[in-house]
Amino acid sequence: MKLTKMAPRCGVEVAGMQLATCSDDELEQIKQAIYEHGVAVFREQNLSPDEHIAFAKRWGGIDINQYFPLEESHPEIAVVRKKADQETNIGGAWHTDHSYDQIPAMGSILVARELPPEGGDTLFAHMGAAYDSLSDDLKRQIEGLEAFHTADHVYKEDGLYAQTDMGKELRGQDMKTGAVHPVVIRHPQTGRKLLYVNGGFTIHFVGMTREESLPLLGKLLDAAVLEDNQARVQWQPGTVAIWDNRTSWHNALNDYQGHYREMHRITLSGEALAA
Ligand code: SIN
Repeated sequence: MKLTKMAPRCGVEVAGMQLATCSDDELEQIKQAIYEHGVAVFREQNLSPDEHIAFAKRWGGIDINQYFPLEESHPEIAVVRKKADQETNIGGAWHTDHSYDQIPAMGSILVARELPPEGGDTLFAHMGAAYDSLSDDLKRQIEGLEAFHTADHVYKEDGLYAQTDMGKELRGQDMKTGAVHPVVIRHPQTGRKLLYVNGGFTIHFVGMTREESLPLLGKLLDAAVLEDNQARVQWQPGTVAIWDNRTSWHNALNDYQGHYREMHRITLSGEALAA
C-alpha cells in the first residue's frame, strides 16, 4: 500500500490495495490516513453496492441521510445525482456533512457511478490547517466558543433547495434539526485542534445573534478555504473517496451543465465532539 499526498496540507492518494478485500491492518492504516489528511482517494476499485455497504460496516454504524434519495435496493446508500436537465447539484457549496446532528457523522465513503465527460470534481479543505492559519488574536476570540448548526434553512419546504430544480428530488422537508458544537474541536482520534464551523450549516455563536456572529463567522469561513488548505479530487470511473467530516470540508463543483453525474454515498456514524 502506497500513500502519496494530494496537496501539501490536505488529502492523500492510496495505491496498491482494494477496499473490498483489504485486511484489518490495511483498514487501520487507511483510517489513520483519513483522520490525519482529511480525505483519501482510491482508484480502480469497482466496488459493487453490496461491497460498498460491507466495507462501510467495517467502520461501525451507518448514518442514513434523511434528505437524499436512497438507492432502491440498497437503502444504506444515498444517491448524489444531478440529471442532465437539472441546474442545481447536491453539496455544491463548502460544508461538512451532518454537523446539524447532535452526534455528527464521522465521514463518508463516496463512489463514482456515472461521471460527466469533464468537470464534477470535488474540493476538500483541511480544518486543522485552517485552525493553524488563524492569527493568535482570532484563536483567542474563539477559545471556548460554541456554535449552533442546523439544516432547516437548506432542506425544509421553504429552504434553499426547495427554490431550485433539485427540490423535488429530496426528502425530509418536515425534519427539524439543530445542534450545538464547540467552534474548535479536538479530533477524537488524533487530538489535533480543528475548526468546526462551516458555511452550509453553522448559523450563529451561542450567546450571539446571527447578525452579531456574521463578522467573526465570515473571518473563520474565509480562513478555512485558503487555497493552501485545499485538495482537489478529479473523479475517474472506479474512484472512491473517503473523508473525515471533522478534519475536512468539501464542495462538489457544479461545472458540467447538460451532463449526468451520479455518486453513491454511505455516511459513517461518528461520536460526540468536544473541545
Ligand atoms: C456531498 O457529499 O456533499 C457531495 C460530494 C460530491 O458529489 O462530490
